[in-house]
Amino acid sequence: MDYLIEAKNIKQHFKVRDFIVKAVDDVSFGIAKGEVFGLVGETGCGKSTIARILSGIYKPDSGEVYYKNHPVSGKNKEALYVKQRQEEMQIVFQDSAAALNPKMTVEDIVLEPLLIRKKLTNKSDDRQKVVEMLEKTGLTADFLTKTPGELSGGQRQRVAIARSLIVEPKLIIADEPIASLDISIQAQIINLLKDLQEEENFSCLFVAHDLSVVRYISNRVGVMYMGKLVETGDTEELFNDPKGSYTKKLLSAITL
Ligand SMILES: Nc1ncnc2c1ncn2[C@@H]1O[C@H](COP(=O)(O)OP(=O)(O)O)[C@@H](O)[C@H]1O
Ligand SMILES: [Mg+2]
Repeated sequence: MDYLIEAKNIKQHFKVRDFIVKAVDDVSFGIAKGEVFGLVGETGCGKSTIARILSGIYKPDSGEVYYKNHPVSGKNKEALYVKQRQEEMQIVFQDSAAALNPKMTVEDIVLEPLLIRKKLTNKSDDRQKVVEMLEKTGLTADFLTKTPGELSGGQRQRVAIARSLIVEPKLIIADEPIASLDISIQAQIINLLKDLQEEENFSCLFVAHDLSVVRYISNRVGVMYMGKLVETGDTEELFNDPKGSYTKKLLSAITL
């Protein structure tokens, strides 16, 4: 299978006082180009740890992450592909919106990934790009000079998304991107992410504990339980005909 990013047998254990927490315990899966892979499971099952391993924030204790079929995490990692993953990936966190620098304007916030990559051109072209990104996320040029404190939670998450789109990412890692928003705003942001994914065709790891959201946005789904990926399948197949007992239990606990 030709995956954009793949985890093979990854493990991540944390020592907490006398305990070893097996946060991720031998997990393997891949995300194809243009595919949205939804990762579900209850709080504490290891979803964020996997998101951090795929994005390179954590180095797994064992196992390997591959980007375009080249190792990017272990001692045989290939620098060229580590760099490509870094440049082609963006992360949208649950609290990305809250993490926006309160002193910066929306224009500077959205441009920052280009600044980091040394890809700024000139003031007017750069501003034009920002406006384009804002418009993609349902905002307008009126927002350029605003600071995060002047925005609603939903608007801030739109700015965070505009910021990640400006590098034309091949991969977006979204860790509970709507969990901290008001219920009324959640649907808007999830619709936006779905539309953008269909337009831009980036691959996406979409982490959530809400099954209906994962069903709506994902092509494939992985179900986690206590550090293990207990079931993986095409979204409709998995929801209509769950195989594992844990997946069945998880599905029966909600009405979709
Ligand atoms: N840095 C850490 N140090 C110690 N334990 C951690 C750390 N990060 C996560 N854990 C533990 O690992 C398990 C999985 O956490 P996490 O990946 O955040 O789960 P989820 O995102 O599914 O809620 C939890 O038991 C959590 O307490
Ligand atoms: Mg989490």
